[in-house]
Amino acid sequence: MTRKILLLLAHPVLERSRVNRRLLDGARGVEGVTVHDLYEAYPAMQLSVRREQKLLLEHDVIVFQHPFYWYSTPAILKEWQDLVLEHNWAYGQKGHHLDGKITLNVVSTGGPEQAYSEQGFNRFSVRQLLAPYELTAHLCRMTFLPPFVVHSAFHVESDAQFAPVVVEYRQLLEALRDGTINLEAAARLTRINSALPVGEQKGTP
Ligand SMILES: Cc1cc2nc3c(=O)[nH]c(=O)nc-3n(C[C@H](O)[C@H](O)[C@H](O)COP(=O)(O)O)c2cc1C
Repeated sequence: MTRKILLLLAHPVLERSRVNRRLLDGARGVEGVTVHDLYEAYPAMQLSVRREQKLLLEHDVIVFQHPFYWYSTPAILKEWQDLVLEHNWAYGQKGHHLDGKITLNVVSTGGPEQAYSEQGFNRFSVRQLLAPYELTAHLCRMTFLPPFVVHSAFHVESDAQFAPVVVEYRQLLEALRDGTINLEAAARLTRINSALPVGEQKGTP
């Protein structure tokens, strides 16, 4: 099995990014991944609905890669949802064009991992905060996977330090592309990072 992956990047100032720029550089080298930088494509946020829908139809896995802004996504992704996921195209009686596609968010946060828990400062996990994405996927009959999360983004200082995360991200994209990830098991996780072989190895001496 080979799936085609559409990576929708939403970062308004990529040149100042520590995390998303490095993740993107890693993803660009993965065969079968189409990178679509939304802020670059639409600097005035004038989205082409037809272009976006055509891209969606051409791919099997839709990845939303973005920093966490106000416990959510940068604004262009909301605009993208509002315009692109049309009634009777994405959902509704006359059209369900996204049926069966896989979707997930790739999220960087300023806050540390422990803050995103019931007892932590932010009370909810990133997955819980992405409930609108999970429900949108459900409405559109897509398979929602938990997010790939990079916490403590401000602590990322060098390519070398961040290299293992990039490897993990590339492995996730390859596994999604090749169908070597157990989707049912992955869907139950709080974050998908730990579904990967490299995630398991981390815990072993
Ligand atoms: C407008 C704005 C809102 C933010 N909101 C949050 C937030 O709700 N939670 C959080 O953990 N970090 C928040 N941050 C920090 C960003 O998530 C962090 O800068 C980003 O993930 C770093 O990724 P980058 O290196 O690719 O830019 C916010 C940053 C900005 C500029």
